Amino acid sequence: MAAAKPYSVRWGILATGGIATTFTKDLLTNPATRSVSDISHIVAAAASSSSASRARDFLSSVRAPSSAKAYGSYHELAHDPDLDIIYIATPHSHHFQNAMLCLEAGKNVLCEKSLTVNAAQARKLVAKAKEKGVFLMEAVWTRYFPLSIKIRALVKDGAIGKVERVFSDLSINAAGDGDELSFSDDSRMVNVDLAGGALLDLGIYSLTWQFQILYLCAEKKEKPRVVAAVQRYRTGADEMTSMVLSWEGNRTVGIATTGLRVATQPHGEGDLGTGPSCRIQGTKGEIQVYGPLYRPVMYKVVKHGDEGGKIEEVDCPIPSDPEREGKDGKGWGHGMFWEADEAARCLRDGKVQSETLTWDESLVIMDVMDEVRRQGGVVYPKEIESDVYDEKSPLNGKS
Ligand SMILES: NC(=O)c1ccc[n+]([C@@H]2O[C@H](COP(=O)([O-])OP(=O)(O)OC[C@H]3O[C@@H](n4cnc5c(N)ncnc54)[C@H](OP(=O)(O)O)[C@@H]3O)[C@@H](O)[C@H]2O)c1
Repeated sequence: MAAAKPYSVRWGILATGGIATTFTKDLLTNPATRSVSDISHIVAAAASSSSASRARDFLSSVRAPSSAKAYGSYHELAHDPDLDIIYIATPHSHHFQNAMLCLEAGKNVLCEKSLTVNAAQARKLVAKAKEKGVFLMEAVWTRYFPLSIKIRALVKDGAIGKVERVFSDLSINAAGDGDELSFSDDSRMVNVDLAGGALLDLGIYSLTWQFQILYLCAEKKEKPRVVAAVQRYRTGADEMTSMVLSWEGNRTVGIATTGLRVATQPHGEGDLGTGPSCRIQGTKGEIQVYGPLYRPVMYKVVKHGDEGGKIEEVDCPIPSDPEREGKDGKGWGHGMFWEADEAARCLRDGKVQSETLTWDESLVIMDVMDEVRRQGGVVYPKEIESDVYDEKSPLNGKS
């Protein structure tokens, strides 16, 4: 019998920056290189807020099919009837207006993290997705890694007993001269006009590891209490943020940190490092996660001494497509294809949200980040904190 045809999804890419490039290249890898045969991805269009020629250059840089359309505005992309889903890859400041533009046009949406600047905006997106009956997911790609799936299964199966505490850190060393950071003040990493700062950009991954263990794996879904220590940079954005999370009903504790002055791994970001980036500590042992928390590639299960002190090390490499070779001679494949596969399967199965990151969970995480910012006095300009949709907002570019 012939194999069933894969379910095919036509993607529109909104914005043409760094992560749009990485994600789109992953869409263009052959699914067979990761043993996937039930779905396939088509890059059908891209839009740049600056010009159609910028979108065209983007499409050719990722070697998209010549049939892919290039738009010089986000509005045109949102209203293209030949798309199944739009991936939003603008800075955090823009997510609410851009995602609402697409949802209002009846489009399914995969939106980069953090979903929005604040929880009020996220609630409005969820309400709009419900009203329109369309799919909406925050693009927290790490959750769909086989490594994350295996670790969640271990936790649920009780491999380390009852989880008592989780430590997680995602920090980079961007220290410059004196008190300066190495980013220019208008970089999206520290510019408050773009909702910059460690928390929304990197801390979301420290929180992802807390939440995918202490919320997603827990029977009782709870919003944790949070106490935060926040240091702000001269721009007003947070540069070092530490959070203690208390899940009181489940009696578990999380310590999540993020920062721009000292790195999780002093050797460098891509390194497995000398120590774990996350420790999930249970009554019978702990799971240690190695590599940057957005893209970890190895974990260890360490059993307590009275369980024999056994250490199991599990490598979870990210497959690459040798047919799509980059300038570095390496095949493409960053690990973002797994979240794209999840979005495609949800569309195929008529689901409006992902079970691995539900709307409720994204909202609780946004609530926690709001509270951390409140305690730390991190305030963004009212234009980007606003939860009032304006199709003609400058954040949506020209119409
Ligand atoms: N999942 C991950 O691992 C990961 C990694 C990095 C970033 N991200 C997320 O992806 C988003 C974009 O990050 P990025 O690193 O790709 O940023 P980037 O390289 O600066 O690209 C952002 C793009 O957004 C568009 N844009 C529209 N208005 C803009 C404005 N006022 N300022 C800057 N850009 C504007 C631009 O594209 P056009 O000119 O074509 O419209 C720009 O190329 C952020 O939400 C970030 O948190 C995720």
